[in-house]
Amino acid sequence: MNLPYAEPYKIKMVEPMYPSTRAEREAWLKEAHYNLFNLKSQQVFIDLLTDSGTGAMSQEQWSALMSGDESYAGSRSFEQLKKVITTLTGFPYILPTHQGRAAENVLFSVMVKEGDVVPGNAHFDTTKGHIEFRKASAYDCTIDEAADTTLYHSFKGNLDISKLENVVEIYGKERIPMIIVTVTCNSTGGQPVSMENLKAVRNLADRHGLPVIFDSARFAENAYFIKTREKGYENHSIREIVKEMFSLADGMTMSSKKDGIVNMGGFIALKSQALYRETSTFNIMFEGYITYGGMSGRDMAALARGLEEATTFEFLESRISQVHYLGELLREAEIPVQEPFGGHAIFVDATRFLTNVPREEFIAQTLAVELYLESGVRAVEIGTLLADRDPETRENRYPRLELLRLAIPRRVYTRNHMDYVAIALINIFQRRKQITSGYKINYEAPIMRHFTVELEKI
Ligand code: F0G
Repeated sequence: MNLPYAEPYKIKMVEPMYPSTRAEREAWLKEAHYNLFNLKSQQVFIDLLTDSGTGAMSQEQWSALMSGDESYAGSRSFEQLKKVITTLTGFPYILPTHQGRAAENVLFSVMVKEGDVVPGNAHFDTTKGHIEFRKASAYDCTIDEAADTTLYHSFKGNLDISKLENVVEIYGKERIPMIIVTVTCNSTGGQPVSMENLKAVRNLADRHGLPVIFDSARFAENAYFIKTREKGYENHSIREIVKEMFSLADGMTMSSKKDGIVNMGGFIALKSQALYRETSTFNIMFEGYITYGGMSGRDMAALARGLEEATTFEFLESRISQVHYLGELLREAEIPVQEPFGGHAIFVDATRFLTNVPREEFIAQTLAVELYLESGVRAVEIGTLLADRDPETRENRYPRLELLRLAIPRRVYTRNHMDYVAIALINIFQRRKQITSGYKINYEAPIMRHFTVELEKI
């Protein structure tokens, strides 16, 4: 027999989890206005809300914390971090930020202005938020295959080059400050972008003189998929692939809370000194001095180590095998899931799961609520609530996919936990026909409403 995958680490410190009864969960959920973001962590048993900032650090990362250098300027921990980032990506200019959206805020303050159009592959909501906040617009150029959860495509994060070409033709390169490529693409299901596609984007950008910026939160997982799925990369190391990926970009924004395996942090890395200098001013204004930008020295030290660990094949293989183990359990039960499975999460196709709930009643949110009631498992809606309203018409924007995301924190849960989640979903799947109504909105914020929305059961 082939030996099964097993985690390449053992547990040294444990944290309690909080089982609860269905009656308790019903009361808590009502108090939370059926918004899972409003739950307290002690009201949640297994928390799959996000893989962001929820990972477990290694003993080496915890040790690194103790030797952090908290100097305001010229911190040794910054130098350490910069060295790791430059070695991995090739970018010589680094600005730390407190998290990913802060990196977007700082960089877009320089690059994006009113009336601009920013093409990309299903921009993440904070990315889109920072674009729209500047009265510019995000233009989705993802390949059509990404929207069909039943279709196998190895790289559903890919951009459709003809769509991209079209955007340049329609709006003109003067209105396009950059192309943003999200690796892996969270919004289409943690789906990777192939090296071939990254090269094609670079080629198009060069022809029109456009910069390419990678939204890099899960860049290491993207490299893993290139290694395991793209012809010609089987024998490349993860770090060789990472280096080649970033050689095709002019810069990156990073949420270190994902593939940095730290609880907080982010950064911007750039090729151009001129852009770095302009960006530095905004970093100082919004984040902090250029050698810490919103991060403690100790956190930069832990991040330096985390980036090294996340770019090993051993780590990525175990991480992604765990995610795919959950995916297999659901697929075997014929639960409709986005395939191929993504890097950081399994995405359940809520439209095909709850066929009797109308789209206006927030199908994926309805499923998220059911899952919590059934089991205490907290997942997140990636659907109409997240998609917000159109900034001009104020109508609900119905995304092509109505998904429930089960995001798996790095190195936190075990296989038993995955079994528990799968059984909870299977139980709901068996009684899915009886679920015929969803929720309506009682309160919503004008932008990024899903965090604070208040709902009522219909
Ligand atoms: N880009 C991507 C692709 C992301 O997934 C996120 C965050 C960000 C940028 C923003 O980074 O949270 O550090 O400010 N995604 C989290 C998630 C919140 O749950 O997927 P941040």
